[in-house]
Amino acid sequence: MVKKKLLIIANWKMYVATSLEARRALQSLRKQSLVLRGAEMVIAPSFALLSAVVDATKGSKIGVAAQSVSPCADGAHTGDVSALMLKAVGAKSVIIGHSERRASGETDAMIREEITQALSAGLRVVLCVGEKERDHDHGSHFAFIASQLRSALADLAKSDAHHLVIAYEPVWAIGKSANAAMAPAALRETSIFIKKILVEHFGREAGISVPILYGGSVDETNAGALVSGGEVDGLLVGRASVKASSLAALIQACKAAAQK
Ligand code: 13P
Repeated sequence: MVKKKLLIIANWKMYVATSLEARRALQSLRKQSLVLRGAEMVIAPSFALLSAVVDATKGSKIGVAAQSVSPCADGAHTGDVSALMLKAVGAKSVIIGHSERRASGETDAMIREEITQALSAGLRVVLCVGEKERDHDHGSHFAFIASQLRSALADLAKSDAHHLVIAYEPVWAIGKSANAAMAPAALRETSIFIKKILVEHFGREAGISVPILYGGSVDETNAGALVSGGEVDGLLVGRASVKASSLAALIQACKAAAQK
């Protein structure tokens, strides 16, 4: 496996409500510069906190991502936030196709449009895929993941691979406790499967250059084993990413596991 820099994305979902809370978390995270060294850290706050998080991370290596983007470029779309708006506020990446967005009605066609909008605004796309349940008898979840991926990648050229990250988040593993996360061996198998589809679409070199992350009930107790045994390049972390000390411990665990 080509070793890439460890990438940790903190999906703050709707957990962090005020700019004061966000600034406090980021202040303590910035103090962990030794822990952050050698890893790429990205914070994904809600739209409302993007600007505060961009300000609070200025001068640091911590990047900022949005949690979603409109499939439309501009116009009469009340409540939507366009890719250009995200770019203008200072976000560098955007999470697209999160299962919590798909559950509230986002379709594969919308996700394709969102990817197009994000890439044309110069944002890096963190595309989420993942099955609702595992089919232990027939393995039909592989076909499901393949179809989500192929649909999202359909319009992408080889040159887009460098602006893409895949976050594999099995829906059944999200929002639970650490022992409900996927087992590293099963993750490894799925990660290799995803890589195969990326190589099929982009060709070998570009395909294997796309980082693959895992998300779903990750915390400092299972992060190391998931990254080292799961053949992934990093993690997309929900609940455990809100407290700076847990996030720092989680990064430390990944780095320690990589050195073994
Ligand atoms: P949890 O880490 O809270 O399970 O959330 C995972 C997730 O959905 C990240 O996008």
